[in-house]
Amino acid sequence: MTDQTPPADVREDREWSLDELADAYAYPTGEERKGAWLRANMVSSLDGAAQHDGRSQPISSDADMRIFGTLRGLADAVVVGAETVRLEGYRPARARAAFADRRAAAGQGRAPAIVVVSASLGLDFSLPLFTEPLVPTLVLTGAAASPDRIRDAERAGAEVVVAGDGPGVEPARAVRALAERGLVRLLTEGGPRMLGQFAAAGVLDELCLTVSPTMTVGDAQRIAGGPALPDPARFALASVLEEAGFLFTRYRKV
Ligand SMILES: NC(=O)c1ccc[n+]([C@@H]2O[C@H](COP(=O)([O-])OP(=O)(O)OC[C@H]3O[C@@H](n4cnc5c(N)ncnc54)[C@H](OP(=O)(O)O)[C@@H]3O)[C@@H](O)[C@H]2O)c1
Repeated sequence: MTDQTPPADVREDREWSLDELADAYAYPTGEERKGAWLRANMVSSLDGAAQHDGRSQPISSDADMRIFGTLRGLADAVVVGAETVRLEGYRPARARAAFADRRAAAGQGRAPAIVVVSASLGLDFSLPLFTEPLVPTLVLTGAAASPDRIRDAERAGAEVVVAGDGPGVEPARAVRALAERGLVRLLTEGGPRMLGQFAAAGVLDELCLTVSPTMTVGDAQRIAGGPALPDPARFALASVLEEAGFLFTRYRKV
């Protein structure tokens, strides 16, 4: 450890309050944010698994879910891969009283928009995620997407945004397209296949990584997948919180 490394802030007597967490995870502002800021929030077991039995819940905890909720409470938009939406049964984000004043002061709507990234548009557009959100759900896709599926998404109430010339979304273009809509405090909740592309494209500014005191063994995905980078991307530790043996780390791209 060097003396530049922040010590872990350990909580033994009571849990971190939502206000404390919101202060700890405030988005950078102005110059530092350089327009949009994309942070990822992921949980990993000690042996690197990003899920167990196809979901992240078995390696998560109450404190992890409070941080999950806090990061949503601070974000303009939550970007998520279609497979995570399908497997984790995504619903629209809620408006939460705990974050109402902060959101109003920051000029944000009552809840973040959910942004689903999909090439196939093989999504169930009759779900509340598309038909009943507080703020319309966005679907990011490529120019080759099926016009019929685009129409289905739009009929359900979603806004479809093309952010790629082929079948897929180009990460830098996705961030630009969201920023153009005023969505600059960005949060991605994975999954690994999507996060790997955003990290590889160099558009990931921050990683909020929960280290879960569990081991799953097996062959679960890591938090980021896809082709390896020629050289590892480097991140610097920004903060560490602890609760009930879980480490809540925050790393920024250097
Ligand atoms: N540990 C954690 O923090 C965490 C977080 C999230 C998820 N998970 C787990 O991860 C698993 C799912 O993750 P995953 O990696 O398999 O899938 P994913 O990244 O959630 O979704 C992959 C899908 O997203 C779409 N996609 C990804 N990149 C795209 C691009 N550039 N352009 C267009 N569409 C793109 C494609 O959708 P289409 O097939 O529709 O084209 C692709 O099939 C689940 O088990 C979930 O529980 C864990």
